[in-house]
Amino acid sequence: MKVTKAIFPVAGLGTRFLPATKANPKEMMPVVDKPLIQYAVEEAVSAGITQLIFVTSSSKRAIEDHFDSNFELESNLIERGKFELLEIVRNILPEGVSCAYIRQKSPQGLGHAVWCAKEFVLNEPFAVLLADDLIDGGKKSCLQQMMDVYQQTNTSVVAVEKIAQTETKKYGVVDVDVTKMPIAVIRGIVEKPQPDKAPSNYGVVGRYILKPRIFDLIENISQGSGGEIQLTDAIETLLKEEEVYALQFKGKRYDCGSKLGYLEATLAYALKHPELAQDFKHSLQGFLECME
Ligand code: UTP
Repeated sequence: MKVTKAIFPVAGLGTRFLPATKANPKEMMPVVDKPLIQYAVEEAVSAGITQLIFVTSSSKRAIEDHFDSNFELESNLIERGKFELLEIVRNILPEGVSCAYIRQKSPQGLGHAVWCAKEFVLNEPFAVLLADDLIDGGKKSCLQQMMDVYQQTNTSVVAVEKIAQTETKKYGVVDVDVTKMPIAVIRGIVEKPQPDKAPSNYGVVGRYILKPRIFDLIENISQGSGGEIQLTDAIETLLKEEEVYALQFKGKRYDCGSKLGYLEATLAYALKHPELAQDFKHSLQGFLECME
């Protein structure tokens, strides 16, 4: 069955970015000139997703507005003859792509956020994209690489990357036969293990393709790491019933939920931006010379 629906959990508090995220959603923070959530939506749409399901909260209205039309802005741009900008604003969502919004009443964890979208997904496989993981897959996006594996295996697929042993406490970590990577069946998965308890150094990043069975499993798990309903724990249960694959995707991930990752993404995307790259490189060289 084709994957045409994607869930975007955007109801977290973004505490690592306070005070910036007090009134503005973390997912609306721009990397150069596009908000993080738009990069994730573009990745999903280019991989064949046509229904976008956002799991939001009361402080995330800006996301809904971003994907809606803005009549006042559009007529203003027309009056001023700014047709290039008009096209940019009008094409944020391509034709044939629809959006649905559902509220997560309080941030009870990623597993709970995904479960909130159950009524929209029904009995279909679906993708999950965390916008704060910005992934530059180069020629083929991370989600497209995962779709290819899904098409071949007809199983759930989780994106992973190699992480430092000291970093395991920040990730879901998979137990896999490392000799089979970049694609291997997951034997086990643990949320935020201590380095000495981690089953490997492959950490889960914010891209999943999941079978709908996961919804029932989320309903039956109890609070896990951090007192939250963890998607990782539901996947661990799913493994007992069916195969789930880990894909070590090709590309570069920026953890834009952290300040350092966000700054790195801004640098990398500015340095490849067609209008900015040259001037920005100059400025950067100037800064670095001053610091020497
Ligand atoms: P994070 O844990 O990275 O984001 O969740 P956060 O909680 O917003 O940020 P910090 O840790 O306080 O700085 C990953 C993604 O899952 C969503 C978040 O919005 C983010 O996009 N999420 C997380 C939910 O939608 N609901 C939750 O209950 C938890």
